[in-house]
Amino acid sequence: MYTHSDLAQLQAQSLKMQGWIRQQTYSPELEKTLRRFSSWEVAELIFRVNQSTLRGRLAADPSLPQGLVEEEGRQRWYSLDEINEIRRRLKVNRKSLMPPRPSGKRAIRAAIANFKGGAGKSTVALHFAHAAALDGYRVLCVDFDPQATLSHSMGLSDVAEEYTVWGIMARDLIAETERMNTAAQGAESGTALPRRRLPPSVTGMGLAELRNSDFIKSTSWSTIDVIPSCANAAFVEFASAQYRHLNPEWSFFAAVSRFLDSLPDDAYDMIIFDCPPAIGYQSMNAVFAADVLYIPSGPGYWEYDSTTSFIGQLSEALEDLSRFSNAVPAGTMRLPKAFCDIRFLLTRYEASNDLHRAMRSAFGKVFGDRVAEHPIEMTRAVEQSGRFLSSIYETDYREMTRETWRRARASFDGAYGEFRDNLLAAWDELEATE
Ligand SMILES: Nc1ncnc2c1ncn2[C@@H]1O[C@H](COP(=O)(O)OP(=O)(O)OP(=O)(O)O)[C@@H](O)[C@H]1O
Ligand SMILES: [Mg+2]
Repeated sequence: MYTHSDLAQLQAQSLKMQGWIRQQTYSPELEKTLRRFSSWEVAELIFRVNQSTLRGRLAADPSLPQGLVEEEGRQRWYSLDEINEIRRRLKVNRKSLMPPRPSGKRAIRAAIANFKGGAGKSTVALHFAHAAALDGYRVLCVDFDPQATLSHSMGLSDVAEEYTVWGIMARDLIAETERMNTAAQGAESGTALPRRRLPPSVTGMGLAELRNSDFIKSTSWSTIDVIPSCANAAFVEFASAQYRHLNPEWSFFAAVSRFLDSLPDDAYDMIIFDCPPAIGYQSMNAVFAADVLYIPSGPGYWEYDSTTSFIGQLSEALEDLSRFSNAVPAGTMRLPKAFCDIRFLLTRYEASNDLHRAMRSAFGKVFGDRVAEHPIEMTRAVEQSGRFLSSIYETDYREMTRETWRRARASFDGAYGEFRDNLLAAWDELEATE
């Protein structure tokens, strides 16, 4: 017979060996770094201008970044920072190379969610973040999933659980309880709420002293930051249930939204959430903080079936929230939760597969124009290969046949372009904060 103490012993054994095992499987060359981009990519795929025009413009002004010249090659290779400097300083045909961004508004937030495991959420989140960064946007990713696929893919593997969404939630509980207690003290006696006390197990973790910036980590992409997750954050679901009990008036689902509200409006342009394959405290925080909901789904019948249950359960969970007793939670969000846009996105799609085509048309019949026009195609170019999941944008096109790379890139570019247009439309609907 085995009990919790046997499990605890097994875990202690594993923890003791963890450092050693990491050493055996780790080498510094595997630290994630970002490659350079060739003049061909910079002109045609990133700025979408004629290659010789761009070459001419760069040659005419030596103060502009000149990239590195490859050995035995004609191409110059530019870093992301160089690309962004060119973008800021150069106009081509009197047109700015900067991406559109409404002024006076905070960053736009999109949640990539579905409770179907393996639907492609993390792959979509990673590719949209990279495509947006190459498009000139400053991106913050929030990993709500303790499987931490997105965090690992972005090169973050040593993350302490206090610096995850769980830390944000626990810190929010402390701050909100404090705020309610202060409000209760100021109110007329008799109408005041009872004073709530949190146990030292919550208040003694030092979370109240953490600054916002402690949660935000930089990545090998200079314009992408991430709030990472880690396996130890899995207990957030369990802890959050306890926290709700400690203070039932706490709007637990709005914790991350409040955190993001407290960042300067112009710190980022797009905020992308990778959600866990479940509806729980973490995914409800993601969904509540999101302006736009993107629901990826594979093109099979069971995936359609499970996507249908997902939207049903999400609807019930959101309806429950709308009855939250403290009608309007602190922060800028309102109840009932309303999204500016909701889209379904087919992933791992193969146009040559009859079943996939049939499912695509079924999705179209059922969900109409809520289905994104550009599905993400199945491609061997993004299959998990090594320590990190790498996006097609990170992969050097010389590592595979040019055709495979181009097709994969075109598929993600198409889906991203549509995503960006949808976000721009949603941005218009956001209230200005100035
Ligand atoms: N377009 C694609 N072409 C080929 N393989 C893909 C594609 N999209 C995703 N995959 C592969 O499918 C697997 C699951 O993808 P991913 O991790 O993105 O799904 P997920 O929805 O985030 O999963 P989970 O629910 O576990 O978080 C991965 O191995 C990934 O490499
Ligand atoms: Mg995932």
